[in-house]
Amino acid sequence: MDTLNHNKPMVLLSLRLLAFSFSLCIVSVLGQLQTFEHPTKGDGTLSFLVLGDWGRSGEYNQSEVAIQMGIVGENLDIDFVVSTGDNFYDSGLTGEHDPAFVNSFVNIYTAKSLQKQWYSVLGNHDYRGDVEAQLSPLLRKIDSRWLCLRSFVVNAEIADLFFVDTTPFVRNYFDEPEHGYDWTGVNPVATYTSIVLEDLESALKSSTAKWKIVVGHHAVRSVGHHGDTQELVEKLLPLLQAYSVDFYMNGHDHCLEQISDDKSPLQFLTSGAGSKAWRGDVKELNSEGLKFFYDGQGFMSVRLTQTDAETVFYDVFGEVLHKWTVSKQLHSSI
Ligand SMILES: *[C@@H]1O[C@H](CO)[C@@H](O)[C@H](O)[C@H]1NC(C)=O
Repeated sequence: MDTLNHNKPMVLLSLRLLAFSFSLCIVSVLGQLQTFEHPTKGDGTLSFLVLGDWGRSGEYNQSEVAIQMGIVGENLDIDFVVSTGDNFYDSGLTGEHDPAFVNSFVNIYTAKSLQKQWYSVLGNHDYRGDVEAQLSPLLRKIDSRWLCLRSFVVNAEIADLFFVDTTPFVRNYFDEPEHGYDWTGVNPVATYTSIVLEDLESALKSSTAKWKIVVGHHAVRSVGHHGDTQELVEKLLPLLQAYSVDFYMNGHDHCLEQISDDKSPLQFLTSGAGSKAWRGDVKELNSEGLKFFYDGQGFMSVRLTQTDAETVFYDVFGEVLHKWTVSKQLHSSI
């Protein structure tokens, strides 16, 4: 946390104010991040699906995954869906009216159980298009399930979910002449990423929820194609450990995987298998703590109570590939 900048540029401040003006129910603010309230079910539990790297007009098994999500979503009576980014391939949306929004989202996730709020972050492929189109309130008029912002918090009573915009952290993207990235609203990037971390830290600090979940597009730890994201290992991981975050959920690697942190109870959960997968290049390197890895398509579900968490990975047929549970004492200090 060496480069915290307290002189925040006006442009970021005004972007935030602008974001405040649209009409989802923002009830409070944790730190400076926009916070949305999402109540638990009547019995105090919460369940949701986690999907990443998906928008391909139904191709590469995207539609098959969507069908199984509908069935699992029904069985678990899910409260919402989390998207870990790379929402639209190959290059995000070209604008607010890009038909990809309808072809790869609205017309794909049609099951009744999936007609819930979706909370999405941006992936690196989303940054290759008109990045602000995905953040636009106009998309909510086309499909009210959609909510994608750069960084924000969902306060779901027993759990706080912190969504983090990880793409600007990755230095390589600023050095890739073959791909154009839309850095509108992110410059200067060092200031931007410092503010993201500062806001995340203050939100984590004021969180009193039983479960703390951080969601970003890029993996902190992964044995898949892209491997660990060094910038996040250096800058984000210390915060996750210091504030006892339970789960870090990401996409980016087109696989399903669970890795346990060696220094804290933190679990790294990759759900980036919403469409194209089967890359076949697993890195044996740094596989410490690896609990599960699957190279094909699928998704993850999460069920939370005051005391228990259960995460389950499913394949394209809805078969359970891996299940993991953890319990906490009711009155342990948070
Ligand atoms: C779709 O899923 C099946 C079952 O996992 C797999 O064999 C097939 O290769 C997948 N198709 C594509 C295009 O990835």
